[in-house]
Amino acid sequence: MKRIDQETKQRILDAADIVEVVSDFVTLKRRGANYIGLCPFHNERTPSFSVSKTKGICKCFSCGKGGSPVNFLMELEQMSFNEALRYLAKKYNIEIKEHELSDAERQQASQRENMFAVNDFAKDFFNKTLTETAEGQAIGLAYFRQRGISDAAIQRFQLGFAPEQSTALYDAATSAGYNRQAIIDTGLCSVSESGRVYDRFRGRVIYPVQSISGKTVAFGGRTLRSDKQVAKYVNSPESIIYSKSRELYGLYQAKNSIAKKDKCILVEGYMDVISMSQRGVENVVASSGTSLTQGQITLIHRFTSNVTVIYDSDAAGIKASLRGIDMLLAEGLDVKVVLLPDGDDPDSFAQSHTAEEVEQYIATHETDFIRFKTRILMQGLDNDPRHRAEVITDIVKSISVIPNDITRTIYIQECSQNLQINENSLALQVAKFIAEQKEQEASNKARRESIESIGNPDVPQTADAYRNLSQTDADILRPVEREIIRYIIRYGVAEIGVLDSEGNHATTLVIDYLRQELSYEKLSFQIPVHNQVFELAMQLRAQFDEAISLHDQSSLQLRQQEWDSGQAIIAQEVSTLDQIKSRETALQREIDSNYMQRENEFRLNYISKALLSNENDEIRKLATELSISRHKLSKVHSKYAKLETEQDRLEDRLPQAIFALKDAHVQCRLISLRNALKALSTAENSPIEEIVNLMRQIADLDKLRSQYAKYLGERVVAPK
Ligand code: CTP
Ligand code: MN
Repeated sequence: MKRIDQETKQRILDAADIVEVVSDFVTLKRRGANYIGLCPFHNERTPSFSVSKTKGICKCFSCGKGGSPVNFLMELEQMSFNEALRYLAKKYNIEIKEHELSDAERQQASQRENMFAVNDFAKDFFNKTLTETAEGQAIGLAYFRQRGISDAAIQRFQLGFAPEQSTALYDAATSAGYNRQAIIDTGLCSVSESGRVYDRFRGRVIYPVQSISGKTVAFGGRTLRSDKQVAKYVNSPESIIYSKSRELYGLYQAKNSIAKKDKCILVEGYMDVISMSQRGVENVVASSGTSLTQGQITLIHRFTSNVTVIYDSDAAGIKASLRGIDMLLAEGLDVKVVLLPDGDDPDSFAQSHTAEEVEQYIATHETDFIRFKTRILMQGLDNDPRHRAEVITDIVKSISVIPNDITRTIYIQECSQNLQINENSLALQVAKFIAEQKEQEASNKARRESIESIGNPDVPQTADAYRNLSQTDADILRPVEREIIRYIIRYGVAEIGVLDSEGNHATTLVIDYLRQELSYEKLSFQIPVHNQVFELAMQLRAQFDEAISLHDQSSLQLRQQEWDSGQAIIAQEVSTLDQIKSRETALQREIDSNYMQRENEFRLNYISKALLSNENDEIRKLATELSISRHKLSKVHSKYAKLETEQDRLEDRLPQAIFALKDAHVQCRLISLRNALKALSTAENSPIEEIVNLMRQIADLDKLRSQYAKYLGERVVAPK
């Protein structure tokens, strides 16, 4: 038997869900957070076998047996460790990889790895420059000291200093043997027209941005000059290892504390995080000056449901940030808001107070968002009754999304006092909104059910937003969107292995992966028919778990039949124990392979079948074109043969397809920037700063595109 490689082993272990594994042998009932059933290891009448989904283990409180999914199988079925792994691999449809990486795979993996390595080197270089060189100590370290930052905080956040000399980092990195292209791709260095390479960060203090697992993905560099001519911050550009909307500054350092305190404090800037953290308030992260994104909110939600946003009392744009708070609420987070005393920001406040004082202040001043929103909206209000009615409607809507009845009632009472409106009429309005929401849900549900019964999804209306799509943009976006749609139609509910943001292996469905990536990147389909197909596929996805379990039931029956009739034949044809054994092994292998093949076929047909019979001509036509086999379908047995199918390559292809879409959007943006530039430069009194600004944006995006191109393995022809 060949060895299972480490990566696959981890993937299997990660995929194995203790409840699902045990359920194959024991009937489980839900009891609070756990599941309970009759112990399979000894005879009993009352259940004492408990399974914890969150902990991933099971245990009998009577006989003490149990453990992880693998332990459970080894103990119960007398399997070896490897047998248990193979059993689980089969159950979760995980391919056991025994092949070496191809050159292309290796190259692709190594481009990212090289970039991480360069960033790591740069982080250490900046840090050493800060603490060990005369220039760094005199300028950078002196600055941090003056701002009250301790040595411990400098190390905890790996702060640094970039020397003034324009090739300091580049020289150090190249002579240490780092790949020149990777240095440029990270954005740490740029190449001038004349081919000279120079550092992006010069004479600035450096804040490395670390991913949730501690990898350095980007840097922020703050100038130490106070003149308004230089940009206060220079930041790393987006790259194939850095997507700004998916990182939160300080999360790596804060995550344990966030989980422990079950609360995340959200501030604006690097220095706010560092000052609070060194003061002992460690559960702090920063959105880095921009409004929150869905990706960042998801990151927070992995550790807690409680978020407290801290604002400077004089902060401009609080009103604008209310929308961001609504997003936090929609995610199901419990959001509170704290305003600091006049003239303070989190940094200065933490510097001038003890940890206890800071926490005490937050505890006594944090307001839940509805109260806060009411206050903010009522503040700027004139006497116009229409404006007042608008504000009230706005607040009532927010109250109506709160799921808990009691909380909602309390808010209604409170707002009736604050807004000086009759409590009953407020309650009535809330009830009306809730009814509307329910109606909406019911009609969605009815639609889903009608789809189920006819097997023929209806078509969502074309959204208004698409009417503005220009012909050029449509031409650029169509082919890349189409490729993603093709993956959805053909492989939407197939399983793939993914790395989560902590670098762990997990499995997910193709469509779930794509949906998450699109939402992280805030991308949506711009071609109406693509969007319709996506929505339909999502509706089908919602019913898939049930569908596959039905399929599995009948498939398991079939498997049993195959086994019974196969054994009957063996019993007739051979008689020695050895012969029986070897025939049975062969039979087992065959029916297992049939079983897996049936499941894979079910998955591959699930979405395409529904779309191929859609009543809308355009959708049917698209589905037909895209489901025609350009590539050989993956048969389970082909996984053991040499032939590699498209399905086997999805884990590389899907990220590429997302990058291609990102690239297409950048391309569209470039066209509009170029048009703006053209219009400006032919205008009479062309404003020079705006032109320069546009040109800079264009240059940045061009750079990003050429990087994408390398990842995508294509050449970008630079437009004239
Ligand atoms: N920021 C940025 N680029 C800018 C300005 C701000 O990326 N030109 C981001 C940085 O992440 C910064 C945050 O927005 O930390 C908040 O900006 P600001 O309040 O201006 O800076 P501080 O971090 O408070 O810096 P300092 O206290 O050192 O002035
Ligand atoms: Mn500040």
